[in-house]
Amino acid sequence: MRRKLAAGNWKMNGLSTQLDQLDALTTAHTDPTVDLMICPPDTLVGAAAARVGNKPLMIGGQDCHHATSGAHTGDTSAEMLADAGAKAVILGHSERREDHGESDELIRQKARAAHEAGLITVICVGESLEQREAANTLDIIGGQLAASIPDNSTGENLVVAYEPIWAIGTGKIPTLDQIGEVHDFIRARLERRFGTGVGRSTRLLYGGSVKPANATEIFAVSNVDGALVGGASLKAEDFTGIISALEAAV
Ligand code: PGA
Repeated sequence: MRRKLAAGNWKMNGLSTQLDQLDALTTAHTDPTVDLMICPPDTLVGAAAARVGNKPLMIGGQDCHHATSGAHTGDTSAEMLADAGAKAVILGHSERREDHGESDELIRQKARAAHEAGLITVICVGESLEQREAANTLDIIGGQLAASIPDNSTGENLVVAYEPIWAIGTGKIPTLDQIGEVHDFIRARLERRFGTGVGRSTRLLYGGSVKPANATEIFAVSNVDGALVGGASLKAEDFTGIISALEAAV
């Protein structure tokens, strides 16, 4: 059985006062039946990890460098994130792919390093609106999966997030059939490459405009094991609504 996962991506949002939201989450969810994760900006990772302590809320980074250390001004390694208390890292988010020109190959190197540092990776894939309209969605996703997921992935250290680029921060979501089609496809590709053991134990998240109001219907889609949430993870009250919907999903 895959344990469901509600992951929040704070992106470039949050000063130290934002850590109060973590207290609100851990108070509202003392014994969650799903895994919880918040990925704050790097500046807050250490303080966030210290703030949650042993409570059931993982802290993660939003990116890492593929090298362990060295002359890479401005970058953070996977080992540094782990040292700061992170348990996970988001990689290949479309904002990284677009703003920083990250390729699948680079994302694979980063993910390999993150796994070696003992982190869970949340590897993001997703099509643009043009690609969907040209009926290229599955080809694009298939290519991203093949090239950005490293061979050292296991059912424990790999999470894949399907995030259609056009659904991120827009309030638009695909139809439930479209979400199901992509998630079934991702599951099948993982099983084909890694075997059924890894393929069936890897968690698949949907991301893009997930809110308390649409979470229940999204979580009812087959092969959706949780969500990667941006805007609605910034306020504990909103994220709690999504967590509760995930706990209620069968
Ligand atoms: P959103 O972002 O929930 O604000 O659409 C999702 C994401 O980018 O991970």
